[in-house]
Amino acid sequence: MIINLTYYHVAKDVPEINPDIAVVIDVLRATTTISWALENGADSIQIFEDLDLLKNSAFNWDVNKRLMLGERGGKKLEGFDLGNSPLSVTKETVQGKRLFMSTTNGTKSLKKVQNAKHLFAMGLPNRKAVAEKIISLNCENVLILGSGWEGSYSLEDSLAAGALANYLKTNCDLVVNISNDELQAAIALWNYWQNDILRCLKTATHGKRLTSLGDYEDDFKSCSQLDCLDVVPAQVERGVIRAS
Ligand code: MLT
Repeated sequence: MIINLTYYHVAKDVPEINPDIAVVIDVLRATTTISWALENGADSIQIFEDLDLLKNSAFNWDVNKRLMLGERGGKKLEGFDLGNSPLSVTKETVQGKRLFMSTTNGTKSLKKVQNAKHLFAMGLPNRKAVAEKIISLNCENVLILGSGWEGSYSLEDSLAAGALANYLKTNCDLVVNISNDELQAAIALWNYWQNDILRCLKTATHGKRLTSLGDYEDDFKSCSQLDCLDVVPAQVERGVIRAS
């Protein structure tokens, strides 16, 4: 069997299709934070684009069993419990709780492909775990979707898309077909930066944006770690993600 891999930089580029598998990537920082939150025992993550809808849903949830996570422009939103830092979703903070989450770009991409048969969230820390899940599912069409920044291309998401494709090409017995130039370019990017991921993240436009907002050194370190988490965040019902 053949696995067809296709990559789109941002949500607006995705055609109206329902792929077998969709993998959403937001290295800096939404899907990295989702992976660490579920690794640290969060019950689930519920994704929202609309902040009022998020607040209404959260307020109808047991106050001891919920947290509101909100980010815009790289900053934590007023009145929310957490911003979008992977360092903030510690075991003590998130264990057993549902995170009601909205970010500038990552949650948009997750919403865009919520009709996929299988939907996974991937950062660099859980690249191998997501790749092995894809291999185990034996599906033909895999759509990889980056998050970018407000509709524009992001270096770090393409790096991770290239890392995923590279892992599948080198660790999968099935024939892996790279279906578009966006992914060919992402693989070339990974081959160039794979030994200096931290510098790639800091070179990226959003990396510079975060650096201009303050000391995000620990966030960069957390987001640049490779294959250190076994968790595969999977959509279990529309807009709700759990560890699988
Ligand atoms: C996003 O969703 O745009 C990002 O994760 C933003 C961030 O948290 O830096």
